[in-house]
Amino acid sequence: MPPKYQVKDFAFIGRTFTEYCEIFKLSKNLLNNNSFLDCPSGASSFTAESNKNNIVATACDCEYSKPFFEIEKKCQNEFKKIKPALSNAEKIFDWTFYQNIENVLTYRKKAYQGYLLDYNKYPDRYIKGILPHLNFQNEQFDIVLSGHFLFLYADRLSLPFHLMTILELLRVAKKEIRIYPLIGLDGKKYKDINKLLNKIKILGFFPLIKKTNFQFLKNSNELLIIKKY
Ligand SMILES: C[S@@+](CC[C@H](N)C(=O)[O-])C[C@H]1O[C@@H](n2cnc3c(N)ncnc32)[C@H](O)[C@@H]1O
Repeated sequence: MPPKYQVKDFAFIGRTFTEYCEIFKLSKNLLNNNSFLDCPSGASSFTAESNKNNIVATACDCEYSKPFFEIEKKCQNEFKKIKPALSNAEKIFDWTFYQNIENVLTYRKKAYQGYLLDYNKYPDRYIKGILPHLNFQNEQFDIVLSGHFLFLYADRLSLPFHLMTILELLRVAKKEIRIYPLIGLDGKKYKDINKLLNKIKILGFFPLIKKTNFQFLKNSNELLIIKKY
């Protein structure tokens, strides 16, 4: 069996603003002229760092609304799992961006610590939501970002769940949604991607796949953008 990055359930980790800009191809112009929903955002510091820079961003995850100390413990426990999981599967990663495991840990720690501080100070930015249903209004955000959830966890999320979730993210987005990556934890492209994108086109949306300069899991250099018009 080839090595695999092992995750039980869903990892409550997150990435930093810098990584989000690479992953989702976020330009300064895009960031400064749109409001964002990050969903599911886990322990990402994208919302915290964005708001610090006057970018309008909200975070949503099924784990939010829990008391700070519970969430803090969760972040610390998840963080401890990263090093052994990476060490067991080093070969399936492209090390161009991070160079080594220690740098990955530095980014992940910066993300969860930035998130925790903000979660404590500005709880209104962190909304509990359980996909495929969200308690947001239609078109409440200009752009919705969804990283490291759909496709990545395809071994535990069904095709109907993917479709329902994408439609829900599109409902709360005014302009577009961006989803990354398009591969699973096994490193393979989501097998039903064409079926899914055809359905989305039939429903009147405009999906396009763009290459990213960034990848960590090998073959994860594709970003799905679905535009509403
Ligand atoms: C790997 S994290 C995503 C972190 C972030 N988007 C990033 O790219 O760094 C996956 C998240 O999905 C959340 N999650 C799992 N099932 C969910 C559901 N049905 N609805 C909302 N969030 C869910 C988990 O709590 C976890 O925080």
